[in-house]
Amino acid sequence: MEKLYEGKAKILYPEGPDTLRVYFKDEATAFNAQKRGLIPGKGVVNNKVSATLFRYLEAHGVRTHFLEELSDREMRVLRVEILPLEVILRFKAAGSFAKRYGVKEGTPLRAPLVEYSLKSDPLGDPLICPEAILALGLATEEELSQVKATTLKVGELLRDFFAQRGLDLIDFKLEFGKRKGEILLADEISPDTMRLWDQKTGESMDKDRFRKDLGGVEEAYQEVLRRVLRG
Ligand code: C5P
Repeated sequence: MEKLYEGKAKILYPEGPDTLRVYFKDEATAFNAQKRGLIPGKGVVNNKVSATLFRYLEAHGVRTHFLEELSDREMRVLRVEILPLEVILRFKAAGSFAKRYGVKEGTPLRAPLVEYSLKSDPLGDPLICPEAILALGLATEEELSQVKATTLKVGELLRDFFAQRGLDLIDFKLEFGKRKGEILLADEISPDTMRLWDQKTGESMDKDRFRKDLGGVEEAYQEVLRRVLRG
């Protein structure tokens, strides 16, 4: 079947005028695709983790693009017009934030911090401030305030969800889309797009294992799926 779009981790296939089929791949990239590899079984984990989290968020009043799981690696979603923003929520310093400000990974932040970057491979997803988002017309003031409020709500819900499963949610990335004037949570929520540390050992249970060549990548993804499905 003809692809609508192929990204680094997913393929989108058109269905009807209103829906898409998303296929989750095992390919992994990091550092703006300078590092490439394969994480066997990742597509299955990311599809099932994302589906479970979208259902959980919907049950708590968050509107998402998710419709249903179609197979181990596929889900059906609503077509949306993706806002060209990556919305990051941080509870503790890690990754690019820890590096940028010279703070130790794991340093707690006084309050959850929302950051935005511009989705652009050629520019390497640069950070963008809310004023620049508005000045460039990437979102309206109302859309941006809804995106921020939803991100903070998702953060609280996901932090609780993972805490009950022995995992500390450090940070995560969301993407949003517009459909008939409504803002919906879109893309995926998976160990590719979150940092999860085991509460007992402090070990990374996410894509940082791939980024930093820590080993045990497949096992960490499988363990996250196991805990997510445990309910
Ligand atoms: O690298 P950085 O610290 O900015 O990442 C913050 C969070 O956003 C991490 O959970 C990371 O996995 C996620 N992220 C992502 N896609 C990107 C950049 C970051 O999912 N392009």
